[in-house]
Amino acid sequence: MTSQWQHQVHFGDCLEVMREIPDNSVDLIVTSPPYADARKHTYGGISADKYVDWFCERAVEMYRILAPTGSFVLNIKEKAIDGERHTYVLELFLALKREVGFRWVEEYIWHKTTAMPGKWKYRFRDSWERLPHFAKTPNMKMRQDAVKVPIGGWTDKRLNNMSSNDLSRQESSTRSGVGRRIANWQGKAMVYPTNVLHKSPVAHNTGHSAAFPEWLPEFFIKLFTDDGDVVLDPFLGSGTTYRVAARLGRIPVGIELNPVGGWIGHNGAYERGWVFA
Ligand SMILES: C[S@@+](CC[C@H](N)C(=O)[O-])C[C@H]1O[C@@H](n2cnc3c(N)ncnc32)[C@H](O)[C@@H]1O
Repeated sequence: MTSQWQHQVHFGDCLEVMREIPDNSVDLIVTSPPYADARKHTYGGISADKYVDWFCERAVEMYRILAPTGSFVLNIKEKAIDGERHTYVLELFLALKREVGFRWVEEYIWHKTTAMPGKWKYRFRDSWERLPHFAKTPNMKMRQDAVKVPIGGWTDKRLNNMSSNDLSRQESSTRSGVGRRIANWQGKAMVYPTNVLHKSPVAHNTGHSAAFPEWLPEFFIKLFTDDGDVVLDPFLGSGTTYRVAARLGRIPVGIELNPVGGWIGHNGAYERGWVFA
């Protein structure tokens, strides 16, 4: 049975809205929060120095409402301030673990395969973003088979270059403890992905300046939830997470501060585009 707060886009500060959500009732939180000092005139930037406190106040609620088997995936990247990377994102990860209580299970990297070209004095163009994965307990739900990827020509190339000794080898030459009997993968069409996601940043919701590409929430929804599970995006923006969760048969819940946002209505009905005030 779905509750009143589910299948809804709630407008307001996610801190206040999450306070109305019961304990342990959300299976996945996947979100991209406003970046520090980003787009002040459109959706209110938080200064980099205050970011950790601002976020952790909300993360305490995220922790409370997350199910013991649940996961929390954040899309974030520190900006450069005064010619160096600010440390607020690294400090946030530590605070989420030490102060809020999350387990930092993994960090996925989104390699943006079609990043815009550019040149900066002391850096190359930025073509990756962080996707840390946090959980509440060691027993979170993970459906690895749901996100398999095509193996491509990788095994054939490796097999052609290997001796029969190599082919039967069970352990890596570095004795790292990682088994790698390459022949085991021969003939397999689909394999597990790595924690580096090589994907395009192209988003379908072109009305929002920071919309997710649909593959991003889709990957984590498939990996960390089952049909009928509750998926929350507390910084919903144009509603990509909501729409994808509804399409995949999950129970979507969104929270967005800016009332001129596009998602109003239920079950993925996109009623108007994102309009900045
Ligand atoms: C980076 S955007 C999210 C974009 C989203 N992933 C999408 O696909 O469109 C962050 C959003 O968080 C909203 N926001 C900022 N502070 C908020 C708060 N305290 N509570 C809820 N939403 C907030 C902003 O208005 C903005 O739309």
